Amino acid sequence: MQIKSIRGFKDILPGEVGKWQLAEREARRIFAFFGFSEFRIPVVERTELFVRSIGEATDIVGKEMYTFQDRDGDSLTLRPEATASIMRAYLEHGLNVREPVGKYYFIGPMFRYERPQKGRYRQFHQIDVEILGVEDPWADAEILAMLIRYLNGLELKNLSLQINSLGCPECRAPYKTEVQKFLQGRKDTLCEDCQRRLETNPLRIFDCKKEECRQALEAAPSVLDYLCPDCLDHFTRVKSLLDEITFPYTVNPRMVRGLDYYTRTAFEVSAGELGAQNAVCGGGRYDGLAQDIGGPRVPGIGFAIGVERLILLLPEKAETTRRQVFLAALGEAPRKKAFRLAQELRQADIRVELDYEGRSLKSQMRKADKMRSPYVVIMGEEELKGNRVILRDMASKAQENLALGEVLDRLQGVMGTN
Ligand code: HAM
Repeated sequence: MQIKSIRGFKDILPGEVGKWQLAEREARRIFAFFGFSEFRIPVVERTELFVRSIGEATDIVGKEMYTFQDRDGDSLTLRPEATASIMRAYLEHGLNVREPVGKYYFIGPMFRYERPQKGRYRQFHQIDVEILGVEDPWADAEILAMLIRYLNGLELKNLSLQINSLGCPECRAPYKTEVQKFLQGRKDTLCEDCQRRLETNPLRIFDCKKEECRQALEAAPSVLDYLCPDCLDHFTRVKSLLDEITFPYTVNPRMVRGLDYYTRTAFEVSAGELGAQNAVCGGGRYDGLAQDIGGPRVPGIGFAIGVERLILLLPEKAETTRRQVFLAALGEAPRKKAFRLAQELRQADIRVELDYEGRSLKSQMRKADKMRSPYVVIMGEEELKGNRVILRDMASKAQENLALGEVLDRLQGVMGTN
């Protein structure tokens, strides 16, 4: 039986990769303007890192992690997200002491055992950005400004930004109790999962997509009415800075995010045209995360963009045709010479294609035509004797006879380098 890929693990074929490269290239370019450096983290971490940061009662930790025992019996997990790993690495290498304000980004695959559908995979990719060590609302607004700059640069349309404040542990505790009290009376109307969540982590119920749970929450108390003065002030200042850059946003007091480490600012960018999986980006502040994983207090804020979803939104652009020269060689000795000429041309930044199978001139010309090569260099036994080649302009069909030593100069003149 022919082996197939695993469900939810997608191949990215050469024909699609251009959009991926564009998204990644633009991210690196824009993030550099804002002073962010690239971080690279391992694919696997100790399971405990994610349990303590993302939270035991979340879907990610409860049912979506790829967890296994390695040969020493340690419990390891394929990273389901990047924030906890970046914070771990930042603390482990003492960066909090050396560069107290850390501005980092990471691009790579994540793993969650979710039910695959359009825009939702078991291996997916994130462009993740974090600012560590800053509590000031300025960081919240700046990271949002960068996100907006990036998304606008990609010419994405119909995006909406929702923001909320989730408060700090002090103001969240009484709010949680109020939500629990409110929902106790409606427990029977909640789905099975949410009935369980009501005991373990009632705020997670805001994340449930089921209609019955949404209805039960309709008149639920708003987190914004429970913010302590410091959290309220923080949120007000974030909003007023956002108003400075005039990007429209809506405040959604029902948005809780699917990870437990968030404090204060939380946000999501969604795109209507994506359907059910419409969140392109999610993020927020996590001032308690460093302590959750055994470190000192280090405030932080960040976001992650789902690259597969971003790619679905990218406008189709005409593929820029790559102009390459085709070397058509006939016979063993000319093929050897062509092999050498190809290396010389590529060394000079000219793209070169060859025929690998030693076919007839006719079929090599057909291949050059199919590849839309604007020029073909023809090398036969006859030409080789005189150390010459024929250069054919595929558009005008004009041919000229050149000395082998002139080919590079001539091609640079007509093609430029690319
Ligand atoms: P998240 O909301 O879990 O946040 O994921 C961020 C984005 O990753 C989502 O908005 C979505 O676009 C994409 N995503 C998530 N799961 C899948 C999936 N199964 N298939 C395809 N795309 C998916 C985080 O991961 C946080 N670490 C973000 C963050 C960074 N918060 C602070 N810093």
